[in-house]
Amino acid sequence: MNKTILKLEGLNKKYSGNVDNLHIIRDLNLEVKEGEFISILGKSGSGKSTLLNLIGMLDKPDSGKIFIDGEEVELLDDKKLDLVKNKKLGFVFQFHYLLPEFTALENVMLPGLVNNYKEKEIIKKRAMELLAEVGMDHRITHKPMELSGGEKQRVAIARALMNSPTILLMDEPTGNLDEETSEMIHKLLRKINVEKKQTIIVVTHSKELANLSHKKLYLKKGVLEVEENNLS
Ligand SMILES: Nc1ncnc2c1ncn2[C@@H]1O[C@H](COP(=O)(O)OP(=O)(O)OP(=O)(O)O)[C@@H](O)[C@H]1O
Ligand SMILES: [Mg+2]
Repeated sequence: MNKTILKLEGLNKKYSGNVDNLHIIRDLNLEVKEGEFISILGKSGSGKSTLLNLIGMLDKPDSGKIFIDGEEVELLDDKKLDLVKNKKLGFVFQFHYLLPEFTALENVMLPGLVNNYKEKEIIKKRAMELLAEVGMDHRITHKPMELSGGEKQRVAIARALMNSPTILLMDEPTGNLDEETSEMIHKLLRKINVEKKQTIIVVTHSKELANLSHKKLYLKKGVLEVEENNLS
């Protein structure tokens, strides 16, 4: 039995609205096992990004508990929290957020260099390997504006994998891409999941991507409804 890598217990998140409070996440529970590939679907405004930001520690719940790799994040001091954020979580967003003045290679190296300038050569080697894995080793000296949308997103995925995150979190990673490019990224994500046993949680509107995941979760009225996918 694979170990539990993420556990959400009784999570609640409200935003204060003009008329009344928006209770977006309601007593939500979730357990994700190591190596699982989970997709989160739901209507626009259902709270998918809100949920992902809570898991990614970009925002705090009003109540409830989040355990990442067995540790309750609420109980961690700032130093430990930074460590968990940098080492255990990798983030990919709909917009790539690559740094424009750096090359593809440098962008991928950056998360590895945080607090670790001494091992620059090792980090460079790893960044090159990751870029090769996402099929971008022919564009390492290109800056983001010299890359296509799909290429930028592949670099962003390599960057998110730099510190070998326990969980790869993605918010509509192919939301801005054409069908063909999206399909290529979807296959890449499946490959990363299968070959590296990478735990992936992806928010998506794409049925095709959701169909590649082990489990589809629908966010509806603040809670998740499960539909298992029988992947062979
Ligand atoms: N900072 C905020 N303050 C107030 N309301 C917010 C805030 N952030 C989000 N909301 C509201 O919470 C709801 C959920 O937003 P969220 O971004 O999580 O939806 P989503 O499911 O990701 O939608 P989409 O598919 O369009 O990206 C929306 O109705 C939104 O208006
Ligand atoms: Mg969203």
